Amino acid sequence: MREIKFQNGKPMALEMHKARIVQKIHLLPTAERLEKTREAGFNTFLLHSNDVFLDLLTDSGSNAMSDDQLASMMVADDAYAGSESFFRLERKLQEIFGLKWFLPAHQGRACENILMKTYVREGSVVPMNFHFTTTKAHIVANGGRVEELVPKESLEVVSTLPFKGNFDLVRLEKLVMDVGASHIPFIRVEAGTNLIGGQPISLANMIGLRKLADRHGLKLLLDASLLQDNLYFIKKREKEFQNLSVRELTLKIASLFELIYFSARKLGFARGGGILCRDKKDFDLMKDLVPLYEGFLTYGGMSVREIEAMAVGMDETMDEEIINQGPIFIEYMVNELLKRGVPVVTPAGGLGCHLDATRFLPHVPQGSYPAGALAAALFLASGVRGMERGTLSEQREPDGTEHFASMELVRLALPRRVFTKSHIDYAVDRIDWLFRHRDLIGGLHFIEEPPTLRFFLGKLDSDSAWPEKLAAEFQKDFAE
Ligand code: F0G
Repeated sequence: MREIKFQNGKPMALEMHKARIVQKIHLLPTAERLEKTREAGFNTFLLHSNDVFLDLLTDSGSNAMSDDQLASMMVADDAYAGSESFFRLERKLQEIFGLKWFLPAHQGRACENILMKTYVREGSVVPMNFHFTTTKAHIVANGGRVEELVPKESLEVVSTLPFKGNFDLVRLEKLVMDVGASHIPFIRVEAGTNLIGGQPISLANMIGLRKLADRHGLKLLLDASLLQDNLYFIKKREKEFQNLSVRELTLKIASLFELIYFSARKLGFARGGGILCRDKKDFDLMKDLVPLYEGFLTYGGMSVREIEAMAVGMDETMDEEIINQGPIFIEYMVNELLKRGVPVVTPAGGLGCHLDATRFLPHVPQGSYPAGALAAALFLASGVRGMERGTLSEQREPDGTEHFASMELVRLALPRRVFTKSHIDYAVDRIDWLFRHRDLIGGLHFIEEPPTLRFFLGKLDSDSAWPEKLAAEFQKDFAE
């Protein structure tokens, strides 16, 4: 893989695109950021994007499109049934993944709804490397349960494991023996495991999974939403497959699975989703649910313009110099923060850079939501919006007690092709300032707590006047 380096041999994070359409962003004064933080109930989901300087909440549906994608949207074929745009996308997916049968859906969780309604029953067990929030919700809603099978070391924030998303195949084999293959509709593999820091799974591990699945007559399901970063990491970290091109690698991975689904809000730089089936039997089992929940079989709830953009975006996903951008810039950010002693998840993964709130704010107890407090404090000190991925994102136990998360993280996602290296330098500088003033950050408590998915709409307040003190210190240091 081509790597561009400085003359001293060190790798260079370098944008491989130029911007020709731009959007102005606003850096509010500190006093206004404080006001907006309070108005949003210390919940970054409730901020207006116009008040945010660098929006690192997610890379879902917020990646930049290319000139080719925009051009393709102009030739979209607006038809309810039999749209030529749909057939173009279908042919592109067949070419890239080698699976024949395609069902469109409006986003990733819509695919999960169709898949879980079709295959999960009361008492089903779905083994996976790690869950994603919406995936688990759909499995549980259909009476099933999730078993997570990454090794314990993968849940350690600081690590050198190159493939933290790998399955523990010994534990998986034991689970299959214990619950019985007939209770397992499929093994779900999440490429680029989102909730443990965008960490990849190796191709060798997937090949091992295929062998295990064959021994027990089990199906394999791939969540390819974050496949783009995972492809990069296989090329970069897995020596035995380095001579395969990204296209060859994708075909090889896909050849191991009966079913593949994806959120095209992430994969393919567009908005939408879909399910690919190797076997027509699976396609037939699910196809009636598409018109019921999504739209006719040739648009699945997506606009034809997005369908065209997705087809072009899928080709771009096969371009090493496009897909390396996310991981290279994330690694740059992680390394710059490490140099300053800021605690982050290592090794650098895909998706984004993850701050470790447990070590950042050791004085804030888990019950006072350290990751939520850190996300709010970061917005206050910089206008950068991240996402809490800790206890606040968990659901309470049925008896009302807190379910403490295994990691307290603030995710700083990097939407692709949107921000530049100077944006990252800005974020790093403000995080560094915040780290040196971390003693000023206190905890949070709920004032409005929704019973489900409370992190989306819940409102909190600070345990003391720490936000005012933090803002005053910032204003003093930066002579505002
Ligand atoms: N699977 C994975 C691995 C995801 O990261 C997501 C979404 C989904 C499924 C669901 O797809 O949003 O299109 O319905 N992740 C977004 C995020 C929400 O911010 O990480 P969706």
